Amino acid sequence: MEPTALDEIIRSRRTIKPPMMSDAPVAEEDLRAILENANWAPTHGLTQPWRFRVYRGDARHQLADDLANLYLTAVPVEEQKEGKADKLREMPKRAPVVILVCMERQKIEKIRELEEIEAVACAVQNMHLTATARGLGAFWSTPPFLYKPEMNAYLGLGEKDRCLGIFYLGYPAESDAWPKGRRQSIDDRVEFVDA
Ligand SMILES: Cc1cc2nc3c(=O)[nH]c(=O)nc-3n(C[C@H](O)[C@H](O)[C@H](O)COP(=O)(O)O)c2cc1C
Repeated sequence: MEPTALDEIIRSRRTIKPPMMSDAPVAEEDLRAILENANWAPTHGLTQPWRFRVYRGDARHQLADDLANLYLTAVPVEEQKEGKADKLREMPKRAPVVILVCMERQKIEKIRELEEIEAVACAVQNMHLTATARGLGAFWSTPPFLYKPEMNAYLGLGEKDRCLGIFYLGYPAESDAWPKGRRQSIDDRVEFVDA
């Protein structure tokens, strides 16, 4: 493999939100590769703590209603933002695949929770990069109620498990150009300590 091929994928990976996605279904082969590559993320102790719930078709409509209702019930009224519930009721319908990304806490709790969360983040990055390589856009969304007990109850998760994101996936609409990214220089964030 050309070593620069991966550079290209990493640097062109962009957050593409559901309104920018087409209705085209995600090819089985692409979805399978995305999930399979998630499973190859590193984990301390090989716990593989990620759990995915994949919603397609009409299941997204039920999810959309449920997320909006969870927002309205789990977030205190004074913290609710205008239009947010409506947005949650719309977003899952605008992406052909919606994946709830969860972390299942190891029963013996040998590995630190932080490391299990880090491992799931590695898995999500694998998913996003695989999506990019296959021309798919994705959006890792983390509305604050995901971390609340109401979300765990809704998903049937244990008290120590966590829902860490809603991963929207779909091919970009033809009318929308692939977004350009921007980053500040790595030189401001690295200190070399050479002997
Ligand atoms: C852990 C995590 C949570 C995120 N949650 C949100 C979110 O709730 N809403 C949002 O608009 N973007 C969210 N993002 C996406 C970032 O906004 C996005 O990665 C950033 O703007 C850089 O854009 P890029 O992904 O196109 O490089 C999240 C990203 C990460 C890594």
